Amino acid sequence: MRLQKYMAKCGIASRRKSEKIILDNRVKVNNKIINELGYKVDINKDTVSVDDKKIFLEEEKVYILLNKPTGYVTTVSDQFNRPTVIDLIEGVNQRIYPVGRLDYDTSGLLILTNDGDLTYKLTHPKHEVNKTYVSKVKGVPTQEEINRFENGLIIDGYKTSKASIKILRKFNNKSLVEIKIHEGRNRQVRKMCKEIGHPVVTLKRVAIGTIELGNLEVGKWRKLTEKEVDYLKKKKTL
Ligand code: URA
Repeated sequence: MRLQKYMAKCGIASRRKSEKIILDNRVKVNNKIINELGYKVDINKDTVSVDDKKIFLEEEKVYILLNKPTGYVTTVSDQFNRPTVIDLIEGVNQRIYPVGRLDYDTSGLLILTNDGDLTYKLTHPKHEVNKTYVSKVKGVPTQEEINRFENGLIIDGYKTSKASIKILRKFNNKSLVEIKIHEGRNRQVRKMCKEIGHPVVTLKRVAIGTIELGNLEVGKWRKLTEKEVDYLKKKKTL
């Protein structure tokens, strides 16, 4: 591979800028300064350094949106040998992992990536992104219960921050609700629904910020579009 291309792939700079770095005598291949543009490196054998610091190929970043079925764990491996969401992603060579988690019995939108910076950003408690869930709950919440849900409930000794719950449909003794929260504590939606007296029967995440599950089939995945990735990377307060 040409030296400047290799440097760009290692995330040092663009190819153009890498050429300048080469011409500035800052690059060594196997400990020898190389200032020839287009010098060929063997990516398996040669050691390349810039300013005497060894450089490494960056793995290509990959961003996946999965419609998680229930009955799968969102860890990379499971102590009880239950199926994991990674089992559903075939044809991706990079080592990816889920961003945040969904319960074993929750379905819906799950992002998987090998981009640690984005994962950190999306799961940082300070700027957790808005998440939308559709849930079937027992009974039909009253206006008073809805107000309590939205204004903050005490769960496990903390007060939940602003959230919303909207009734989409009423059945005999159940209702379908849309819930939006922007925190991500353990089993938070389930605990909040239970707290207002309407335990969750089924739970599905349908959106993270403006990224929607749409009509992707259960168990199927797609790559996030460039626009979706940019949106997630750029968002400051999510
Ligand atoms: N809240 C829950 O209770 N469970 C999930 O899987 C996600 C959010």
